[in-house]
Amino acid sequence: MKKVVLSGIKPTGIAHIGNYFGALKPAVEMANNNEYECYYFIADYHALNYIKNSKELQENTKALVCTLLAIGMDAKNIVLYKQSDVPEVTELNWILSNVTPKGLLNRAHAYKAKVEEATVNGQDPDALVNMGLYNYPVLMAADILMVNSNFVPVGQDQKQHVEMARDIAGYFNKTYGANFVVPKEIISKDLGTIAGTDGRKMSKSYNNTIPLFAPEDKLKKLIMSIKTDSSLPTEPKPLDSAVMNLFKLFATAKEYETEKAKYENGLSWAEAKTDLFNMMNNYLSPMREKYNYYMENYAEAEKILARGAKKVQAVARETLQRTRIAVGID
Ligand code: TRP
Repeated sequence: MKKVVLSGIKPTGIAHIGNYFGALKPAVEMANNNEYECYYFIADYHALNYIKNSKELQENTKALVCTLLAIGMDAKNIVLYKQSDVPEVTELNWILSNVTPKGLLNRAHAYKAKVEEATVNGQDPDALVNMGLYNYPVLMAADILMVNSNFVPVGQDQKQHVEMARDIAGYFNKTYGANFVVPKEIISKDLGTIAGTDGRKMSKSYNNTIPLFAPEDKLKKLIMSIKTDSSLPTEPKPLDSAVMNLFKLFATAKEYETEKAKYENGLSWAEAKTDLFNMMNNYLSPMREKYNYYMENYAEAEKILARGAKKVQAVARETLQRTRIAVGID
């Protein structure tokens, strides 16, 4: 029996370079490993807590589906689907709520951050908390337990959520007998900070992102706008600059060494940025083409999603049926 791997991503914005190297690329590498049975999904139920505009959620979902297909989530052994195509997870979510201590959810980082924010503002501690946020970890446990996941590859920020899924599986199994596979997180390697155009960590909240599939001219413009120091064109350039930080992500070891030598000997920032643009554009062009193709022919993407939904639904029904029997509501 192959080990089951599952991960998901919220459709909360347009994917940028930081998302790609931090989460998407490791996920696609793992998903393309034939030793595993892989599930990957678009967490649109979870996104409801972040996006309160239907059109925006729809557009984000479409862009994310096309992004995932463009980067290789369409491989044969990957079941790609939309969370909302498996409404069974919401029933499982409810069943799991009944073995989940409130105290466990009180410890969730995202919830605590909102309480802290409200408290600092002098508001009621729960002023910024709705039940979607509070129950977020239970729904995530339902996603994970539904397909009998052995491994859940996530970034460090999601580690606690997978631990909670493991705890919730344990509470259930202890109450009703062995029913769920107990999952384990796999934390993707820390790449250090990926620089945005202003030199700070690339993040939507800093408005300094480089979209993964920005059109070529926009990509060039963004790269040319990266903040640099005011050294002379002939002076050596620092290797810890934002420009080199990005170059390194895309370059092979050999390409990096060549560029490093240029930095050490001295080159203009304009040239360094042109080198970065060429490197990035070569790397991204084939994926960007595929992305644009699916954006224009979305019906094809939807067919792939429908196939994924059908496969995961079969597993979901089985898990749910087994669980209903375990609790006595079959
Ligand atoms: N919470 C994850 C995030 O914010 C997305 C997610 C939802 C997820 N359900 C999941 C990830 C199950 C792994 C497994 O990115």
